[in-house]
Amino acid sequence: MQDTVSGLLLCGKTIGFVPTMGALHEGHLSLVKRARQENDKTVVSIFVNPLQFGPDEDFPRYPRDVEGDTEKLAKEAADILFIPDAPLMYPEGFLTRIEVGKISDKLCGFFRPGHFIGVATVVAKLFHIVKPTRSYFGQKDFQQAVIIGKMVRDLNMDIDVVICPTIREKDGLAMSSRNAYLTQAERKVSGVLYRSLKETADLLTSGIINSIHLKEMMHEKILQEPAVSSIDYAGFYDPETLKELSMIQGDVLLAVAAKIGNTRLIDNILVTMRKER
Ligand code: PAF
Repeated sequence: MQDTVSGLLLCGKTIGFVPTMGALHEGHLSLVKRARQENDKTVVSIFVNPLQFGPDEDFPRYPRDVEGDTEKLAKEAADILFIPDAPLMYPEGFLTRIEVGKISDKLCGFFRPGHFIGVATVVAKLFHIVKPTRSYFGQKDFQQAVIIGKMVRDLNMDIDVVICPTIREKDGLAMSSRNAYLTQAERKVSGVLYRSLKETADLLTSGIINSIHLKEMMHEKILQEPAVSSIDYAGFYDPETLKELSMIQGDVLLAVAAKIGNTRLIDNILVTMRKER
């Protein structure tokens, strides 16, 4: 991989990179399309990164379909598919960790301790191997994209981090490889997460900005659905610091993480509040 990209860079080619954990869906493919439009060559990686899963999380059963993924990427005309294995990425004696302080222990980081250290470490390694000009991430994993953007700036990595819109199913459910865990009955009701975000965003933009009241309404709406077993968080956050907002103004991240049955799903919407004249 490193020899291949060195050759491309010597010829002055730009490289668009889409890091993934596989089980590719339309969300991933939209990133590949964008990378193809904006770069000479497109590289996609598939690596289910053990470092970003907690001991009781779904690493062993995370969906894997390299054959299906390869076909999908061929259809999208991605140029290079990089599938490293764990001993190659983390040989014996591997000690380094990348931690993007403060923003990594908010939101999902609070509920999944160490998760974003695993993400930042593997993405930093992949960036060093692939040497992309631009790298593409979905807005669904907003916190991940913010953390990677910060890592890139803090470590002077010469890479543009491009955040692309969340791709949704017809009922609004954000596409995710983990949606495959949902039973039919759970899948039917899982649009409730996006609906509650959208309704709250609409209330915000119509001028209702009482964050305590809106947050309560959002929680109630989600929990009305009996298949929702718990909410990790649902509320309003600063899109840069990821701190919870009590005053709603400027750019606002509406974000939710909840369990439908045993499946933990996340989603978010960004809202820009109009300035009062
Ligand atoms: O979003 C993902 O699929 C993963 O977190 C990533 C960025 C490929 C790192 O393993």
